Amino acid sequence: MTAQSPDPADHTAPDAREESAPATAYPVGLRLAGRRVVVLGGGQVAQRRLPGLVAAGADVSLISPSATPSVEAMATAGTVRWERRRYRAGDLDGAWYALISTDDPAANAAASAEAESRRVWCVRSDDAAAATAWTPATGRSEGVTVAVLTGQDPRRSAAVRDAIVEGLRDGTLAAPRHRARTPGVALVGGGPGDPDLITVRGRRLLAEADVVIADRLGPRDLLDELPPHVEVVDAAKIPYGRAMAQEAINSALIEHAKAGRAVVRLKGGDPYVFGRGMEEAEALAEAGIPCTVVPGISSSISVPAAAGIPVTHRGVAHEFTVVSGHVAPDDPRSLVDWAALARLHGTLVLLMAVDKIGPIAGALMAHGRAPGTPVAVVQEGTTAAQRRVDATLETVARRVAEEGVRPPAVVVIGEVVAVGPWADPR
Ligand SMILES: C[S@@+](CC[C@H](N)C(=O)[O-])C[C@H]1O[C@@H](n2cnc3c(N)ncnc32)[C@H](O)[C@@H]1O
Repeated sequence: MTAQSPDPADHTAPDAREESAPATAYPVGLRLAGRRVVVLGGGQVAQRRLPGLVAAGADVSLISPSATPSVEAMATAGTVRWERRRYRAGDLDGAWYALISTDDPAANAAASAEAESRRVWCVRSDDAAAATAWTPATGRSEGVTVAVLTGQDPRRSAAVRDAIVEGLRDGTLAAPRHRARTPGVALVGGGPGDPDLITVRGRRLLAEADVVIADRLGPRDLLDELPPHVEVVDAAKIPYGRAMAQEAINSALIEHAKAGRAVVRLKGGDPYVFGRGMEEAEALAEAGIPCTVVPGISSSISVPAAAGIPVTHRGVAHEFTVVSGHVAPDDPRSLVDWAALARLHGTLVLLMAVDKIGPIAGALMAHGRAPGTPVAVVQEGTTAAQRRVDATLETVARRVAEEGVRPPAVVVIGEVVAVGPWADPR
């Protein structure tokens, strides 16, 4: 009774054989918490269905002589009770629902006959027409459960399900009148620039926003997609002098939130990686405004990756350190111990370091990092304008000047730069 059989009631299974089943079913949500559910067969079908049954709180009995490793792990963890044997008449006693998916057609037929006689709704993996219930293609997003039955075409069910769930997640399928909007301000990490690299949550909050206060970096393309009623404020253009800019941004966030608007503060990368996210969170807390922080994909990892550089690599680098290079090593405002960094063997990732790359490379070499250490400078990573300039610690300042590299750029220092097919052995 190992169950490797296809699951015709599973609308996501490509090999499902439910064509003969009539396309009529009455959709319903079963509340299985604490109720006995019997699963016959411990193969792929059980593996796919058990997590949902467990999440629904069902009291699951698995009956099967064998099981896949992940089904076995669920039994070991105690989330399902596993009886290592074949199906026997009477197994469905007391069950509310049964999933029949053994590799023995005769056992499946006997079990579904028992289900019929006991009036237990049952799903059959080998014969959808003989089943009394079908499993829809399901998905979840933010408290909404989507269940799709097409009756004929499991791939279509899965595709419809995916479209709906994805639309709900990224906000393109909006249900604004019914949506509980997140109150206050969301500090959203937008990722490095490619609009596909924002998180699903960030994208959804953006779609719900009344006001978006956006940085120069990050997924600016997404701003074009916002509906016309959304006010987009360019944080770089908020008046006041440079030193005042952050205070002015904080005030704008507070003002819009107090006016009852859903505000998104869209930031490049991750809000808490050189993003002044905590300053904004603190200002909002002080003003009594709820604040949600949505992490983002930091340029410190994603921009090297986009240029073919892993920040760690087995046998090459066991650590990576992300450093701000916005002030030179000899600047009294610097908080960085460049001598200690020079002693590390792993990867250094420098942000905001284009202007000071000469003094930084000089300090690292002066403190012992080899002049031949490979370096790559990646400008505007993950965007259409991305480019990579390869150098060494000794040549990087000259190469940056020759190539006219401009911010935003990430500088990667270390042997990982020479790993992989995109390395330039300069
Ligand atoms: C103020 S920091 C913000 C970092 C951001 N919070 C993050 O996690 O990526 C700005 C610096 O991030 C780096 N940066 C951000 N986006 C980048 C991109 N698409 N390409 C290259 N560097 C980028 C540059 O070093 C830039 O000067």
